[in-house]
Amino acid sequence: MGSFALLGMGWHSWLFREEMRAIVGDLDILHPRIVACKIKEGALERLSGCALLDEVLVLGGHCELDDSSKGFDELFTEIGDWAVNSMGEGSFAIRTRKIGELPRSLSSRAFERSVGKHISSQGRDVNLEDPENEVVVIIAGSNDIDSHPEPYSFSGITITWGIKEVDWEKEDFSGRSPTERPYFKPVSLDPRQARLLISLSNIPGRETKTIIDPFCGTGGIAIEGSLQDIEVLASDLDSRMVEGSISNLKWLDRKCSVEKCDASEIFGLWGKRDGCSFVFDPPYGRSSWKSDDSVEIFLNVLGEARKIDPTGVVSTMLPAGPEALASLTHEDTVVMGRSWSDLVVEIESIGWRVHLFCPVRVHRSLVRVIAVFHPSD
Ligand SMILES: C[S@@+](CC[C@H](N)C(=O)[O-])C[C@H]1O[C@@H](n2cnc3c(N)ncnc32)[C@H](O)[C@@H]1O
Repeated sequence: MGSFALLGMGWHSWLFREEMRAIVGDLDILHPRIVACKIKEGALERLSGCALLDEVLVLGGHCELDDSSKGFDELFTEIGDWAVNSMGEGSFAIRTRKIGELPRSLSSRAFERSVGKHISSQGRDVNLEDPENEVVVIIAGSNDIDSHPEPYSFSGITITWGIKEVDWEKEDFSGRSPTERPYFKPVSLDPRQARLLISLSNIPGRETKTIIDPFCGTGGIAIEGSLQDIEVLASDLDSRMVEGSISNLKWLDRKCSVEKCDASEIFGLWGKRDGCSFVFDPPYGRSSWKSDDSVEIFLNVLGEARKIDPTGVVSTMLPAGPEALASLTHEDTVVMGRSWSDLVVEIESIGWRVHLFCPVRVHRSLVRVIAVFHPSD
């Protein structure tokens, strides 16, 4: 079992941590964008395909940079000694990353120069072009740049160091954005967001055997699920969307079941299953057949999902009012035109428990909430 540090992309630190928790389980938060966790040997591939993970390091250590902390020279030596004892054969380079708000006076060059000097004094070759070992030092200040709500409060500066994990590769989302696909509609979900919803539907230790998307539209979720080699059962009431999803999947050389079906009848379509994740963005506004129906359709789907797999997980994205971003309590937030506290009562009466409710800024007046429900029993 090795200790790793996982660094999130800057977009939404809270969701980054939730994604990591859904995939690896317990973690320690070192900074809003950096978490530490234990991962069993050979299990690193569980982190492949994550939406918000930017870098994986074999964790060396971390410390707060406050008045009482050790001096810089002591820190450079500690990082250098750890690297010498922990890195593999061959050459090395030191790379620093600065994230968040930091004083200009904090020099990343000083880390590179001093730690590098310490390691090379012990007989290791520097190779800045193509090193066999990349020693990474992350200098992280407050995370004010992220304008999403943040339940984890952090101020100060933290230093985290480790060696870049070569067995992990960042997912490449290029080349399949909605507008690049053969069939595009403005409702199409961005690949990274689709991937995030899929990750969030994970429960550590439970295998996601099947993803069910009853509102597949142009196939954004179906594509990301099938790219991860998970079985996907997709459906939509609009036959043009069904055809469009099939052509988008074919374009990527992927196949999955796509059927025309009203979402409130998916139990009849797919029957009883296990290991299911119900991942979808339901219709709202113009993508709803009648806009007033949105909440009813959504609640019907939650009922169907319980019938298909009472141990399943729901991961979804719902339209919300801008007030969702203003606080961490959400009783009065309007979600799909209803107060969230009223909706929760209905969601719970169907047998679901709200595991996550996390607002996402889409643009100035448009907010979505990412919501994950686990079975209540
Ligand atoms: C927000 S879009 C989903 C977009 C999709 N995630 C994508 O990547 O393109 C909602 C979809 O729900 C479909 N829809 C609306 N009412 C439905 C219903 N009662 N049953 C099934 N699908 C429905 C619409 O045709 C639309 O394709």
